[in-house]
Amino acid sequence: METKEFYNELEEYINSLKDKKDDVKILNFVIEKLDSIPVEVQKFIAEKTGLMEISIENTINFYPKFRNKVEGKKVKEVAICVGMTCGSWGKGYYDELAKILEIDENGISKDGKIQLTTKRCFGRCAKGPNMSIDGTIYSMVTMDEIKRRLNLK
Ligand code: FES
Repeated sequence: METKEFYNELEEYINSLKDKKDDVKILNFVIEKLDSIPVEVQKFIAEKTGLMEISIENTINFYPKFRNKVEGKKVKEVAICVGMTCGSWGKGYYDELAKILEIDENGISKDGKIQLTTKRCFGRCAKGPNMSIDGTIYSMVTMDEIKRRLNLK
């Protein structure tokens, strides 16, 4: 629960804006103050600006810096090794995943839940192909196993 002072400050900030529907500015203000964007705060912004909640959500999903700050919506970090040894599998895995997840230019999946990156080497070349999910390394992975671990079809 945010404090009454926070909501007062936020309301004052919204009122001070030339364009009161400038949700990017408003969300930046919220992150500076709270380092997160709680759902109640999104509702409050909708109420005070007249914006639809869904349109605020869309703005949040559009910008990684906002998306990563939504509580309970932590982005899963998936890294595929494309180094010398793993690369012959890894590059194919990466391309296939990128396609399935419809990742954007920042490597974020369309649903905003996964960030896909590559790695040059995990130091486990003999056990390649390697990949990691939120820092846990998985070795000798197959595409089927990756899909299973990420709950993809
Ligand atoms: S190249 Fe993949 S772990 Fe070294």
